[in-house]
Amino acid sequence: MNTLQSINYPIHFNNIAAALNQFIKQGNYSRFFILTDEHTVKHCLPIIRDGLDQTDNFDIIEINAGEESKSIDFCVGIWKMLIDFGADRNSLLINLGGGVITDLGGFAASTYKRGIDFVHIPTTLLSQVDASVGGKTGIDIDNLKNIIGTFTQPKAVFIEHRFLQTLPARQVRSGLAEMLKHGLITDAAYWEKLKNSDLENLSAELIYDSIAIKNKVVIADPTERGLRKILNFGHTIGHAIESYSLEHDENPLTHGEAVVAGMICEAYLSHQKSGLSLTAMEEIINTLLGLYGKYELDEATFPMLNDIMRKDKKNQGGNINCSLLSNIGESKIDNICTDEELVESLKFYASLEYAKA
Ligand code: GLY
Repeated sequence: MNTLQSINYPIHFNNIAAALNQFIKQGNYSRFFILTDEHTVKHCLPIIRDGLDQTDNFDIIEINAGEESKSIDFCVGIWKMLIDFGADRNSLLINLGGGVITDLGGFAASTYKRGIDFVHIPTTLLSQVDASVGGKTGIDIDNLKNIIGTFTQPKAVFIEHRFLQTLPARQVRSGLAEMLKHGLITDAAYWEKLKNSDLENLSAELIYDSIAIKNKVVIADPTERGLRKILNFGHTIGHAIESYSLEHDENPLTHGEAVVAGMICEAYLSHQKSGLSLTAMEEIINTLLGLYGKYELDEATFPMLNDIMRKDKKNQGGNINCSLLSNIGESKIDNICTDEELVESLKFYASLEYAKA
């Protein structure tokens, strides 16, 4: 359990210092830059820096943590710093952080001087099991997440299980949502194993298996023409709820919490439209509600949520396209959902009884 091969790059798992040093040495880079935020600079950069053989030819680019940084303004800031530091085309950008850093850093690197090499060292569970694998880079515009971006694969990914010890429990649960999704869309045995595990202390093996599931899907369909769309289960409605929450809530939902709400709505749609049995739907909903509780959604927000879904980048020909389940561990892409069906699923979610423990 230490290296997975992705599309055309390795994903190194644990004890990453040796692999990173070897990668930098072999790449013969003129300079390298580490993109970090105020959290990873404190908690993760020292671990990386201590393990580096070459300590004199890199600079650090630090940005603010948080989704607000995933904007064109911050991207311009990174490009300008690369220019000021004299980054040439043979430079390497090391993205050390969560999904914001890997998406934004990947985008900045893939466009700077028509593209320089970059690698990811994801430090949150969410970015380890999702954002860092598969080559999606992106920035947001207003409340539209990842509306601008490229498919550009990193040159390598380095994942360290012990970084999870630096994270608040809520951030770990955000990543757990994507791991649960990986089981639901492709692997019933993994779903079963994961939901019965000690979720407060996720094992390296469970994380590795989740990355392997995602990796298998992106290898089969790197640019999301078909199969990769299954990874969007829960995300059509989840993204809309996340965008809404980011704009309106004092303490907004994490990505994973919003995706859980989206998965519950889309499990309902799966039962209505793609053959998911009532028993399976109930199992999914009870498990997710038991783990995450319920987000209070007011009916007055439904038109706004529907409007956000209409602008989703996954839509085609004016249709809202959802990836749904046909069973636990099996999914179906390209299910066109009408506005009425989507609103119906939101109503279903809002009506769910949930007694807080
Ligand atoms: N996060 C979904 C994907 O990488 O396709």
